[in-house]
Amino acid sequence: MKRYISLPRVEGQASRQAHADLPAGTYEREMSKEGFFGPAALFHHKHPPTGWVQFEGPLRPHAFDLNKVAADGASPWRAAQVLRNASVRVRYWHAKASMDHLVRNADGDDLLFVHRGAAEFFCDYGHLSVAAGDYVVVPRGTMWRMDVKDPLSVLLIESVNGSYQLPDKGLLGGHAIFDPAMLDTPTLDAAFVAQQSDDRPWRVLVKRHDAISTVTYPFNPLDAVGWHGDLCVVRINVKDIRPIASHRYHLPPSAHTTFVGNRFVVCTFVPRPFETDPGALKVPFFHNNDDYDEVIFYHAGNFFSRDNIGPGMMTLHPCGFTHGPHPKALQNMLVQSKPATDEYAVMIDARDSLEITEAAAAVEWGGYVDSWKAK
Ligand SMILES: [Fe+2]
Repeated sequence: MKRYISLPRVEGQASRQAHADLPAGTYEREMSKEGFFGPAALFHHKHPPTGWVQFEGPLRPHAFDLNKVAADGASPWRAAQVLRNASVRVRYWHAKASMDHLVRNADGDDLLFVHRGAAEFFCDYGHLSVAAGDYVVVPRGTMWRMDVKDPLSVLLIESVNGSYQLPDKGLLGGHAIFDPAMLDTPTLDAAFVAQQSDDRPWRVLVKRHDAISTVTYPFNPLDAVGWHGDLCVVRINVKDIRPIASHRYHLPPSAHTTFVGNRFVVCTFVPRPFETDPGALKVPFFHNNDDYDEVIFYHAGNFFSRDNIGPGMMTLHPCGFTHGPHPKALQNMLVQSKPATDEYAVMIDARDSLEITEAAAAVEWGGYVDSWKAK
């Protein structure tokens, strides 16, 4: 049996409530275990913890402009791998043309996040129209293809050797954030039946151990006339996510958890009102993220705590890197000029460190570490 050495203590001037009522003129920094779920200490600093003048050595934050990733191709298996570890692989795919083959991932479940474009998605389970802002969870082993209607940019998040599940909603109850009844599933509709008449030989590109094998059929294998069971492709759009907010307390990002993988979670930031209580923090608190590598993909809107970050960009804050709002956002620490955030972003929090691939390094913006410097 293991237990944390967990002894609540107070030294010097300190607030009793995290993220609120900070001693005047101080900046709060959280150090914690297990994301924001384990033992934690909250420091009240005289200076912003990101007020460095020089930053040297291998530990640093990264920003990548995925709009520039060279991964055009009519197959998700031609997507550029950008980040990876043993439990999650992140790829980015630009697809201008429809797929002339099917794919099947034998390595794990895939979570597709459609950043731009629109397509008809055909799979073992039927047909689903997909558009920007859609998450599509594709269970391992599903055969699928996309008929592209409007050029696609898709973030592919693979749960390596694992499955996607929904988070425990705890005291919020099962209908919070999004009701499971909001999940759309493919149907065996007229479009699906129509594509079955395309019975020329079809190739299925199967990915296993990240290598591709091709299986050729003399017919179209998306030929199901029916199915039953409790395993299925599901889709939800970010606009159908109803965020939890508190007017008196800045919630940790984990409150926005949307999907849970093996040793990582996917959270979604969607527009929400700012905190209004005079003593409550209105910006993310400084922290080191000590047990997780934190990735944010920016989808749409104004990214209120970051300067120089636009849609299609992705940041990586590795474990141990102190971060928090940029200087401009920090000015609004206790008073916000706007009533609400208008950002949409996808966060991946990985328990094990992520490797940056060559494809990601090629589109890195090297000046990101300097973006916390006061201007
Ligand atoms: Fe963070």
